[in-house]
Amino acid sequence: MSLYLDNAATSYPKPDAVYDAVNHALREIGVGPGRGVHRRGMAATRLVFEAREAVAALFGIADSSRVVFTHSATEALNLALFGLLLPGDHVVTTTMEHNSLVRPLHLLQARGVEVTWVEADRRGSVTPAQIAAALRPETKLVALSHCSNVTGSVQPIGEIGRATRSAGAHFLVDAAQSAGMMPIDAPALGIDLLAAPGHKGLLGPQGTGILYVAEGVELAPLMVGGTGGFSAGPEQPDAMPERLESGTLDTPGIAGLKAGVEFIRDVGIDVVAAKEQRLIASIVEGLAAMAGVTCHGPVPGEPRGGVASFTVAGMDSQEIGFRLDREYDISVRVGLHCAPDAHRTIGTFPGGTVRVSPGYFTSDRDVEEFLAALGEIVGRKQP
Ligand SMILES: Cc1ncc(COP(=O)(O)O)c(C=O)c1O
Repeated sequence: MSLYLDNAATSYPKPDAVYDAVNHALREIGVGPGRGVHRRGMAATRLVFEAREAVAALFGIADSSRVVFTHSATEALNLALFGLLLPGDHVVTTTMEHNSLVRPLHLLQARGVEVTWVEADRRGSVTPAQIAAALRPETKLVALSHCSNVTGSVQPIGEIGRATRSAGAHFLVDAAQSAGMMPIDAPALGIDLLAAPGHKGLLGPQGTGILYVAEGVELAPLMVGGTGGFSAGPEQPDAMPERLESGTLDTPGIAGLKAGVEFIRDVGIDVVAAKEQRLIASIVEGLAAMAGVTCHGPVPGEPRGGVASFTVAGMDSQEIGFRLDREYDISVRVGLHCAPDAHRTIGTFPGGTVRVSPGYFTSDRDVEEFLAALGEIVGRKQP
């Protein structure tokens, strides 16, 4: 039977309620929010408001108007970075980041923003002391991923948030690999900007994402245009979230995202996190027991998200992924995972790794099946 172990790219399958919610929004509501006083328009407006409330509650955010809907984590990161940074500003980040953070920062660097790339260790971790040492009086932002999509390393964002705040800088967290998989209380962690995709751990459809913008953080919009309300003037309204949300929202996507977030709320984020931890621990343990296999990233006992990346001596990662797919119908991700600097940091550039990422609907049996298939491939080595 087909086995999907690439939940770090996008979660699959989704809870049934997510499929139903998208279907309902398309068939029964049909229209976008804020665009009409008719009943359909009001239903869409209510749905989007409830989705914002559900997302806000998951991250401990009191005012849901500070949650902006985007189409991906990439868009959320671009909005945060281009909306905040000006030439002369200084940013601190790490060598473990996804291209969604790296590429906007490179472009901003070319436009006069200074960037310090803090070198993570070979297991993909940075310390709060390293970040604190990189801070300067002109540092405007510390930006990093909570959990690496390559190694699963979890950065100590609570301590980093405190150091950032005491230096007077803003703190942007890319929660692409942790949102919906680990408890995150954004205000308590000192997070000013939290970017997350809707389609990974939050269990929503592709085409959804969110950016939390803390009170007092002013972002310039990436786009301006129609916001439904505040229609009289030619200028973009100041009110949140309209200031940062132009154009008709993806109501079906947001309906699915709401259902995904409500599913997590109902199961309990601690239960979801515990399951993910158990599955990934069995995968790491199984990989460690296989001769010739190196599992990169945190060692057992160190914090790890729902990702395990490995290489096999004398075997190409692409070939392993291909054979898992063709011979066993098991989907994993191979290569650089859009994070070449992370691979340079851990020593797996340019060949990359095989990445396995279970999800909430992965079972212990699935993990056993994957390990057995890999054991056969590694045992045979040659086709
Ligand atoms: C750490 C990290 N940041 C950002 C992203 C980008 O997410 P999206 O595809 O929603 O733009 C990903 C996706 O893989 C990721 O793993």
